[in-house]
Amino acid sequence: MVKNICCIGAGYVGGPTMAVIALKNPQIKVNVVDINAERIAAWNTDDLPVYEPGLLDVVKQARGRNLFFDTDIEKGIREADMIFISVNTPTKTYGLGKGKAADLRYVELCARQIAEVATSDKIVVEKSTLPVRTAQAIKTILSETGGKANFQVLSNPEFLAEGTAINDLLEPDRVLIGGDQTPEGLTAIEELTQVYASWVPRERIIQTRLWSSELSKLIANAFLAQRISSINSISALCEVTGADVDEVAYAIGTDSRIGPKFLKASVGFGGSCFQKDILNLVYLCEYFGLPEVARYWEQVIALNDYQKRRFAQNIIHTLFNTVSGKKIAMLGWAFKKDTNDTRESAAIYVADHLLNDMANICVYDPKVPAKSMYADLDYLGTRSPDENRKSLTVVNDPYEACKNAHAIAIITEWDEFKAYDWQRIYDNMMKPAFIFDGRNILDHKRLMEIGFKVKGIGKSYGGS
Ligand SMILES: NC(=O)c1ccc[n+]([C@@H]2O[C@H](COP(=O)([O-])OP(=O)(O)OC[C@H]3O[C@@H](n4cnc5c(N)ncnc54)[C@H](O)[C@@H]3O)[C@@H](O)[C@H]2O)c1
Repeated sequence: MVKNICCIGAGYVGGPTMAVIALKNPQIKVNVVDINAERIAAWNTDDLPVYEPGLLDVVKQARGRNLFFDTDIEKGIREADMIFISVNTPTKTYGLGKGKAADLRYVELCARQIAEVATSDKIVVEKSTLPVRTAQAIKTILSETGGKANFQVLSNPEFLAEGTAINDLLEPDRVLIGGDQTPEGLTAIEELTQVYASWVPRERIIQTRLWSSELSKLIANAFLAQRISSINSISALCEVTGADVDEVAYAIGTDSRIGPKFLKASVGFGGSCFQKDILNLVYLCEYFGLPEVARYWEQVIALNDYQKRRFAQNIIHTLFNTVSGKKIAMLGWAFKKDTNDTRESAAIYVADHLLNDMANICVYDPKVPAKSMYADLDYLGTRSPDENRKSLTVVNDPYEACKNAHAIAIITEWDEFKAYDWQRIYDNMMKPAFIFDGRNILDHKRLMEIGFKVKGIGKSYGGS
């Protein structure tokens, strides 16, 4: 029976996942550790570093009881009998595989540290999303550099979606656990199964071999992103033919073989995972000599880039081919609603395109601080940090963001945007007053009655 869990990495996955494991297993001590002291300090306050509906409530129930956040990684490792690795695995920005392969240096550092510090047997669980066969590398590091301790390596990828993480964790469609099919491997799989079985029905806990588990996570994300790119490709066709993409999505989604989920056309997907995991899949296919398969999946990313670019270009074309000196209000910066995560958000790329055309952008997002927005833009390196701060301002009030704007771009589907006083916003805007609804969340008919010129994704008002 597992008595002590350590999770290395207190991010969007490690924090919420461990909070729920601790909540549901009061008999297990759960230590979440991270090298980022600021993040750990925030986890110990009520101003958590991750915004997720319901998260604070779960943390408050378990924190100090059997859930702890700490910077002492060595102590966490030493005391644990099960260690989750939940560190970031971004796309490599250097050397071999640059721009595609996953950067595994943080994972490798964790494995080396575990090997160095461990004095008793451990089950090491890959929670981070990793390329297939990474467990082999972890096993080699652990066995070649470790002392006398024995290690079992499991793969337990996380399927939570940001914005609904707590619900997803409390009621997962499935939990996936992969491990070696040896007696020791099967025992380790069973130990982890028992941790989840405290609240997840057994039939939803899928046990597989290691490689199937590692690969399944990449493929799940690839299929999800593929659906978004598929419907987004059709949105472009709808705009030129007069069809309505939401009607098409509804009509095809009622086919039980297709299903209605993930068929919402938009300005493009973002988030830390879809792009990096597909690039990683592309890299793996190339590595294993499957160029046709690599090209197939690469198109999902190419289409997503096209969709973001197309949205920005549409704003420029519609505003009489220039946005130079014009105020564009951007509502939303997070990559989706109900999160403060901005990684790979479409907002960053739309803003960058518009700034290239000399727009003055004013952003409002209910949860994202200005500091994150500037960090995102500065990271692109398109212009100097000074120029970014001069051309893009951030405000705390949506009405102020839209005041005297030539156009409004809806980037994130925050619910509160639907409830605004759109007449008041219209009255305070430059005319003609344009709205580009990158999420198709507003009531377009009502907006047009007020006087707005409305452009939706996959809509061509005036067609039949
Ligand atoms: N964000 C999601 O929705 C999601 C969903 C499923 C899976 N994943 C996967 O989970 C993994 C983590 O993602 P995330 O969004 O939580 O990342 P994150 O960047 O929010 O968190 C990672 C944390 O790991 C810490 N860290 C890095 N190296 C460390 C080390 N050597 N020792 C201690 N701490 C270290 C960082 O300081 C950071 O706080 C990734 O592989 C990701 O692909 C993410």
